[in-house]
This record gives sequence, C-alpha cells and structure tokens, in this order.
Amino acid sequence: MTATRQLLVHLLLPLLLICFLLLSIQTSAAGGFTDKLEWGQNLTDGQTLVSPGGSYTLGFFSPGASTKRYLGIWFSVSNTTVYWVANRDQPLPDKSGMLVFNDVDSLVLLDGSGRTAWSSNFPAASAAAVWLLESGNLVVRNGSSDISLWQSFDEPSDTLLPGMKLGKNLWTGGEWQLTAWSSPDDPSPGNYRRTLETAGLPELVVWQRGVKKYRTGPWNGRYFSGVPEVSWYANKYTLWVTKSPSEMTYGYTAAPGTSLTRVVLNYTAGGVERLVWDAGTGEWVSYFKGPRDPCDAYASCGPFGLCDAGAASSGFCGCVEGFSSVVSASPSAQEVRDSADGCRRNAALDCDGGKTTDDFKVVPGVKLPDTQNASVDMGVELEECRERCFADCSCLAYAAADIRGGGDGTGCVIWKDAILDLRFVDGGQNLYLRLSKSEFDDSKGFPTLLVATPIASAFTILLVLFVVWWRRKRRVVGVIPHNPAMAVPSISLAIIKDITINFSDGNMIGQGGFSVVYKGKLPGGRTVAVKRLKQSALTTKGKTDFVREVEVMAGLRHGSLVRLLAYCNEGKERILIYEYMQNKSLNAYIFGAAKLRASLNWEKRLKLLHGIAHGIAYLHGGSGESVIHRDLKPGNILLDDEWNPKIADFGTAKLFAAIDQAGPDQTIVISPGYAAPEYARGGEMTLKCDVYSFGIILLETLSGERNGALHRLLSHAWGLWEENRIVELLDTTMVPLPESETELLSELKRCIQIGLLCVQETPGDRPAMSAVVSMLMSTTSHIDWPRRQVDSREAVDSNSSRGLRTDLLSSTTTDLT
Ligand SMILES: *[C@@H]1O[C@H](CO)[C@@H](O)[C@H](O)[C@H]1NC(C)=O
Ligand SMILES: *[C@@H]1O[C@H](CO)[C@@H](O)[C@H](O)[C@H]1NC(C)=O
Ligand SMILES: *[C@@H]1O[C@H](CO)[C@@H](O)[C@H](O)[C@H]1NC(C)=O
Ligand SMILES: *[C@@H]1O[C@H](CO)[C@@H](O)[C@H](O)[C@H]1NC(C)=O
Ligand SMILES: *[C@@H]1O[C@H](CO)[C@@H](O)[C@H](O)[C@H]1NC(C)=O
Repeated sequence: MTATRQLLVHLLLPLLLICFLLLSIQTSAAGGFTDKLEWGQNLTDGQTLVSPGGSYTLGFFSPGASTKRYLGIWFSVSNTTVYWVANRDQPLPDKSGMLVFNDVDSLVLLDGSGRTAWSSNFPAASAAAVWLLESGNLVVRNGSSDISLWQSFDEPSDTLLPGMKLGKNLWTGGEWQLTAWSSPDDPSPGNYRRTLETAGLPELVVWQRGVKKYRTGPWNGRYFSGVPEVSWYANKYTLWVTKSPSEMTYGYTAAPGTSLTRVVLNYTAGGVERLVWDAGTGEWVSYFKGPRDPCDAYASCGPFGLCDAGAASSGFCGCVEGFSSVVSASPSAQEVRDSADGCRRNAALDCDGGKTTDDFKVVPGVKLPDTQNASVDMGVELEECRERCFADCSCLAYAAADIRGGGDGTGCVIWKDAILDLRFVDGGQNLYLRLSKSEFDDSKGFPTLLVATPIASAFTILLVLFVVWWRRKRRVVGVIPHNPAMAVPSISLAIIKDITINFSDGNMIGQGGFSVVYKGKLPGGRTVAVKRLKQSALTTKGKTDFVREVEVMAGLRHGSLVRLLAYCNEGKERILIYEYMQNKSLNAYIFGAAKLRASLNWEKRLKLLHGIAHGIAYLHGGSGESVIHRDLKPGNILLDDEWNPKIADFGTAKLFAAIDQAGPDQTIVISPGYAAPEYARGGEMTLKCDVYSFGIILLETLSGERNGALHRLLSHAWGLWEENRIVELLDTTMVPLPESETELLSELKRCIQIGLLCVQETPGDRPAMSAVVSMLMSTTSHIDWPRRQVDSREAVDSNSSRGLRTDLLSSTTTDLT
C-alpha cells in the first residue's frame, strides 16, 4: 500500500511540476493578451482582446479594400472572418479610435476627436468591465457578477455562432435577427435580413428589404421542414427552437470537441451558409448553402404551385393535384419559363354549413407551405386535425406540426389561405389537401390541358424551343453548383469522411472498375451506401457523367429504383450517396447455393419481376423523362429488407456514354449476355434494348441459369418453347412444384412467355415496358406468341423503333410532340 503511494508520489510529483512549468511558460508567453477591459482602461487601434481559449479576437480592422476602421470580433484562425462589428454604419476615418467606458454607464467607441461612433447601454454599475468569452460573446459584467449587463450576442451582425439566437422577445417585442453586410468592403446593414417568423409555426425567412426571398420551411421538432439534410450532422451541430412566455427563438449548439462553425447571411443575393473550419486545410468548409435551387426562391410557382427541382424541362413549376396551371392567352417566352401565375382549381369544393363531399389527398415529401396565416395547435393528433379541417369549409389543407414521435406525426397546422411556396424535398413531409369529390373519381381522365387550339400549340412550340435552348445551355455546364436542377442535397466531404470513418477499409463494401462503395452511418442511425469515384475515373468525361447521373437520379423517384440521397462534388472528389440495401443483389440468390436459391421461392421471384418491370417502365417514361438504363442485369438489381427489388447503378461511367459521341468508336457498355443483338452489332441504343435485358433477367430469375456471352440459356429456352416443354426451364434445384399448384404453374408459364416476347430478335416485335407491366399484372389478358427470329427479316426494323429512340436530351421533346 505505502509502496504504491510512494511510487505515485515519485512519479506524479515531477509530472505535476512539469505541467506547472509548462503552464506558467504559456501564461507568460500569452502575457501580451488579455480577455478583459476594465473601467478606466482603454483599447486603441492595434491592441486586441483575445478570448481565454484563444479562439476569438476583438480589435480594429479594415474590411476588404476599404481603408476605414471598424471595431469587430473575428476568428483568430482566420482574421478576415469577422462575425461581429460594433460601428457598422459609422466607420472611423483613421487609426485614432478607442474603446473605453464612459461616465454615463456605457461602453463607447470614440474617434480621434472624441465623438461617439458606437455605444452600448447598460444599467449603471460602478464595477463594470467587458470580457471576450471563449464562446465569442463580448459581455459587460459588474465585477465578478455572473449577470451580464450587455452582450454582443444580443446584437448580431450577419453571423450566428453557437449560443446565439434569432427570434422574438415576447415581452419587449424586441427581435434578434441577422443583417447582411452591404458589400465585402462595407459592413453597414445591407439589403438582406434573416429572421425567425413566429406567426404560424416558427420558420426562418430571408428578406430582401420587405420582400420574402427564401424560407427554410416550418420547424417540425427536428428540423426546418425544407432542410432535412441538417440531420446529417445533427450529432455535431444541433438545431433547437424554443418557445417560452418570454421568447420564441432559434439557435444551435456545437457538441464538445467539434470544429469552429458559423452560419452567415451573405451580402450577395442573401444566401445562407453553414461553414465549418477545417484546421487541416485552413479553410472554411460549406456544410449547407441555401437557397439551393430555383425551387427555393419564395413562392416561385405561385399559389397552389408545386416546385420540383428535378423537372427543369418543364420550368420547375407544376400544380398540386386537382389544380391546373393558369396559362395566359398570349404567353411570352418569359411566361413559359416560369408559370408564376400559379394554378387554378379544376373542380369547385362542395362544402356548406359543415356538410361536405370533399376529401383529402396527400401531397408527399414536401417543404410545407408558408404558415404565416395558418393556425397551429400542437396538442392534437393528426386524425383530429383531419376532422377539424373537414368540418371547417374554409380549411384548404392540413399537416402534422411535429414529427418527433415518428409515424405520421402529431399536432395540427391548418391553412385557410392560399398554399404558397410548396416544393418537393428529399425527406420532406406530407401535406393533406382538400379536393372536390370528383378528383377521387378514377374514371375521370386528365384535365384537358394542351388541347390543339392555336394558342395551346403556340404555347407548346414556345415551350419546346425553350426546353431545347435550356437543355443546350445546360449541356455546357459541367459543375454541379451552377446547375439549377438539383433536388438532391450536396453534402460536404467532411461529413462523408465522418460517416464512413474516413473511408476506412472496414467500411468498404464493394469495388468496381470506376468506384469504391463504402457503408456509412448517419447520426440518426440510418445506414447509407457511399459510392466514391476512383481518381482514375475522373477524366473530363467521367466528371460530365457524374453530373449527369446526379441530374438524372435527382428527377427519379420510384419504389423500384434505389434513391440517391445526396452527392458530393468537392475538389477532386465525386461521391454519390444512396440508400443502403441489406440483402445484396439478385444474382447472389438466383445463381447462388441451393439454400440461397430456396430463400427466393416462386412467389417471391414473381413479385420481384413485377417490381423490376414497374421500375423499368417508370424509367422509360413514367417520370416524364425517358431514361435508358443500358446496363440491366441481376447484379444491378438490389434487394431491400422486404425483398423488394431496387434497380441500381445508373452507371456513372456508362449511362450516357453514347450521347456525346457520334463516331464509330462507340464502346459497348452493356454486359455481354444482356445486350440486345442489334446493339451488340453496333446499332442504336433504344428503350427496346432495356426490354431485351429485362427478358434475359426474367428468364435467368426463373431458370437459375446464366445466359452468358454465348446466349446458351436463350437457345435452350427457345428450344423448349418450340417443343412445348417450357416448364422444364424452371430452376431444377428448387423443390419441384406439386401438381396441385396449377395456378402458380400457369402464372410462371405466362411469365416465361412474356420474357420470350421481350427477347425477340427484332426490336419492333418486343413489347414496350408499360405493356410488359400490364401483361405481368393481369392473369387473363392475351399474350402474343413469341417467335424466335430466323434471319428472314431485316434485323433492325427502323420504322418500329422510330419514336422510341430517345435519350435524356431529347426525351421531353418526344413527350410533347
Ligand atoms: C489610455 O490608457 C493608457 C494607459 O493604459 C493611458 O496612458 C491613456 O492616457 C489612456 N487614454 C485615454 C484617452 O484615456
Ligand atoms: C491577419 O493575418 C495576416 C497574416 O497572418 C496579417 O498580415 C494581418 O495583419 C492580420 N490582420 C489583422 C487585422 O490582424
Ligand atoms: C456593482 O458592483 C458593486 C461592487 O462590486 C456594487 O456596489 C454595485 O451595487 C453593483 N451594481 C449593480 C448595478 O449591480
Ligand atoms: C458571400 O458569397 C461570396 C461568393 O460566394 C463569397 O466569396 C463570400 O465569402 C461570401 N461572404 C460571406 C460573408 O460569407
Ligand atoms: C397572409 O395574410 C396577409 C393579409 O391578408 C397577406 O398579405 C399575406 O400575403 C398572407 N400570407 C400568406 C403566406 O398567405
């Protein structure tokens, strides 16, 4: 016992001494700095206050090219990053300024002639002194009292630091807000302000003078409804909104040990940015930047408009269901571009004295509309919210106010005014919209929109011209941040490094020719797949392909396609983040060991094929765009935890390869065994090539055999088909189907027949994907007799493939004509 104690004393004492010595050296080295200015002292130009931990510095500076002097506080690591300025609109002409306490109880900034350029008022206190705290807050206190008499955090400039707040003081009516600088050379209050609006649900709004420019969407308990991506770094920087009798405010906290951060309102266009200091590179890294795209511009689609950042081809704007866009009689090119006129209801509501036949339709995945005039009740469930809206004829829509509990959420927001500033966001909320009973009548056709009146045709032509112009313009653009068509958030490299533990080998889950795939874990616990392009793939073309993949994926949303959640385009990094699929890809099962094959029984296989067919049909036109996948194969069909298929790999380096080239050096991008014969011969890539690949996938899934480059499976299948023994194609390693299962058996036979239709030699003979879907879904509809082509006909029937050939750049034109 005593021995240990002696040992401790011998070891610890010298250690403690060393520590003490080091500390005293540090203190004396820092002797020139102080964090405090007391009554009777003064601070002149050239002198500074430094916060105790050294993070922040107060002093005099000249912004940008200006020679005028201002008193401000900046980040010590980056002395041009000034986050607070005292004399914003009263610059000092020279270096004769001085900060001092005066006799009438305030801290004042005096110029050379003793005139006051800035002052802070606080209650009289004889022992007042001002401290620069390690939080960045400059506070006046009375002696050692903890109560601050005045603090800079109450008078924000253009920057919000952790511990600061925006919002309203409900007692005094005072407000905390950010005001942008006028220019990089002039910190005086500029045109942009950012406030926390509290009339409906709290939401952050950027104003340009008196006009709303950009809102984040209402606070839903976890984030602002239009900015779900903040949850990506919620473990580091956590947002909060509080309401108390005295105030309603927003702010954020930084977890201990995290890097310096700030949220700044920019003088250019009122952009809002969250920046995080990267000590490694000595630069600020952007974690979030808004507005992100044209859809973030306030109310850009007018009342009842719905903005879709992925729908650049239609000028981003559409209407919510049950409404059609208001097209003025003689549309100018400008009007075609933005249908800011808004939308008009197709069928009047029917509600009188509480009696109504109306119903609600859900508008999923949106930033909730402006709640300025909405009424809010946090205390009810969503079901009651619905009833309230139903019973009130002036209620147009409702939504949950709080999503913290999961599910559909709780609380109630009710809109009686126009629905304004609605847009799709990834991870957005549901809005329930009141519509006339007739909108629920399935037999009703689409509203007659572009009927062939002269006006409508003129409109169509203008729209087509605009789209062509716009797309041509857009083709040149190779850098994502300049591209407006982004529905998918861009995430900083720092965050991605964080969630993949710096791309550690332990997190690697796959590797291809062009990319490495990692597993990543988001703060909320969700797992994602992180696809990082290899540097060798970063040719000019590789970069263009990356931009295109993001563009395409941003516009696609379907249960049978993997979802792109975010991307990163920083320096030399090109990274895509997808939802993570638990169960690997289809090939692992259908070609796997008996046990794996057995885990996919016949019902599951049929269901899978239906799902894949739906996904491809959606790609081929269901989204409004026509996209050719070009590399469909079982290895690109992922399975989620409920065995739903998810089509993946929109081939960063493959998808669009054929678009830019025109010469004979066209490389065949599709895997052998899945390529349509006309394409393999050097022909054109059409939608029917995807149909062919689907046919092969179908046959492989049911037979458990690979087709391979020699098309062995296909010859086998055609042989059996012609001999009327097609049942023998079914995977023999599976438990044989009992005779009693006639229904299942005939369904499998139908399915094979459809598969054979898809792999017919002549593209024109193959059904369109939408026809494949309806054949698969019906057990009664007629199915053509598939024929194996003998070389009697011209292999490529040019007539039948006309109008089907499509690629991204011409698809919309095809749709409209
Ligand atoms: C400012 O402080 C210095 C010493 O700290 C003192 O010599 C000087 O007179 C002060 N100036 C004024 C104007 O109070
Ligand atoms: C900021 O830092 C640079 C270089 O470190 C230095 O030259 C400059 O004088 C500093 N400016 C201020 C206002 O401290
Ligand atoms: C400030 O502190 C002094 C002594 O420390 C005390 O006499 C005085 O009353 C205090 N004033 C206020 C306003 O708290
Ligand atoms: C405002 O944006 C411009 C251009 O993006 C940038 O150079 C500048 O540093 C930003 N200013 C602030 C205060 O963040
Ligand atoms: C709320 O009502 C006011 C007054 O009628 C109106 O000016 C404003 O545009 C409305 N705001 C929204 C978002 O509907």
